[in-house]
Amino acid sequence: MPADLVIRNARIIDGSGGPSFQGDVAVTDGRIVAVGNAAGTGGREVDARGQVLSPGFVDTHSHDDGAFIRYPGMEFKLAQGVTSEVSGNCGSSTIPNEPGRKFMPGDLASSKSANWTDLNGYFAACMALKPAINNMMLVGHNRVRAYVIGREDRQATAAELSEMRAHVAKAMEQGACGFSTGLIYEPGRFANTHEVVSLAEECAPYGGLYATHMRNEGDKLLEAVEEALTIARSAGIGLHISHHKAAGKRNWGRVKESLARVHRAEEEGLSVTLDIYPYTAGSGPMWQYVNLERIDVEWATHVMINSCPDDTTLEGKMIPEIGEEKGWDVAETVRRVLSTPRGQNVICTHFIIDETDIETNLRDPRVMIGSDGIPDLNGRPHPRLFGTMPRVLGEYVRERKILPLEEAIRRMTSLPCERFGLAGRGLVKEGYWADLVLFDPLTVRDTATYKDPKQEPVGIAMVVVNGAIACENGAHTGAGSGRMLRYRQEA
Ligand code: CU
Ligand code: ZN
Repeated sequence: MPADLVIRNARIIDGSGGPSFQGDVAVTDGRIVAVGNAAGTGGREVDARGQVLSPGFVDTHSHDDGAFIRYPGMEFKLAQGVTSEVSGNCGSSTIPNEPGRKFMPGDLASSKSANWTDLNGYFAACMALKPAINNMMLVGHNRVRAYVIGREDRQATAAELSEMRAHVAKAMEQGACGFSTGLIYEPGRFANTHEVVSLAEECAPYGGLYATHMRNEGDKLLEAVEEALTIARSAGIGLHISHHKAAGKRNWGRVKESLARVHRAEEEGLSVTLDIYPYTAGSGPMWQYVNLERIDVEWATHVMINSCPDDTTLEGKMIPEIGEEKGWDVAETVRRVLSTPRGQNVICTHFIIDETDIETNLRDPRVMIGSDGIPDLNGRPHPRLFGTMPRVLGEYVRERKILPLEEAIRRMTSLPCERFGLAGRGLVKEGYWADLVLFDPLTVRDTATYKDPKQEPVGIAMVVVNGAIACENGAHTGAGSGRMLRYRQEA
């Protein structure tokens, strides 16, 4: 019987981190059936001379829970070679849900048509729309807390705590890979360490993970790392530190200290991994970063507006630039932007990260790649939404030679698949799911910029998701072959 698809003469980088080799890959019924020498013919034959064939990339840090409903074609990820991602990060997940209820302003994990209550329901809603890529979920603390306690700044009662625990347990039982926090954001930041430990404990029976946007990424970075380590250790689970950085110029360079702390914890027996995005700017809902009584003017000078539903002319502009045009000082500009009628939906980008810290992170073998892209396509999203994976390959591997290509591919494939429990994925290996990317290592690069961010990358010839060609030479085929993945289960 001929294979469905045969990719011939590729330079195969199999995701293990081992050296590349020349060969063919045959795919049938969604799976890789031959690696090396594919005899016979395929239903579709592709000559891949000069191109690299690797496992599909895994975006370990996505906020696409709602995007799977709004944009099931997931073009901005698929075009990067992303075939799977982990959603529900930073404490913000689309489960648990109560149809019709609004949990937090500007919460992109939500969707108006959200008719589910739990992970099974959410997965069914996604599958009905034929998603382009695979999705693994974390259950988010901020959502769980908003569901049970609302937005109040107080500790949980014993009854509330056990109700929250039940939500986490249910998500884990239904196949989430772990529990995420966003302890910098409301309402997660109202929680003490004890609350987070109790909720994370519900992951332990499943061997799930604690993934965290830590309580502080700037002046108190090391204290926050300590808290994260304590939480994972107390709960008896592995730790994943999201978008590891040292924010703010005076803290630049300190990722070295926090990586050293992570290494020590590993020696003491705790399993720790991290991810980063390859950009010097972060991004998120602006109101979450601002105390209107005490506006941080220094911070605000480094802020760009991505989406402002009530005044789209502000999009793509820096705060000082807007202030100059309007005749406002920096603090006044922040106040005005946030007090537009839909001010709580304003998304901003802040330039707070050191380039050298990105390189330090990329050199660490525990560091994976997570876009942290915020899928608001109405404005000008941070370019990481469209450019993350090809930017690592083009800028940090080819141009700056920070890490070898084989190693970068390992960090984008087998490492995250193992860590986040994407069973049967992450390697070019017989019997594995055929999630594949074919790209030109000499030309692959991101083209999305801060001013013009909705640009798909170049140099990616083909993306295969569960055996179906999902994107070819930049054209999206609409194959809709993605799946909803459950932790450590074949799907
Ligand atoms: Cu995030
Ligand atoms: Zn975050």
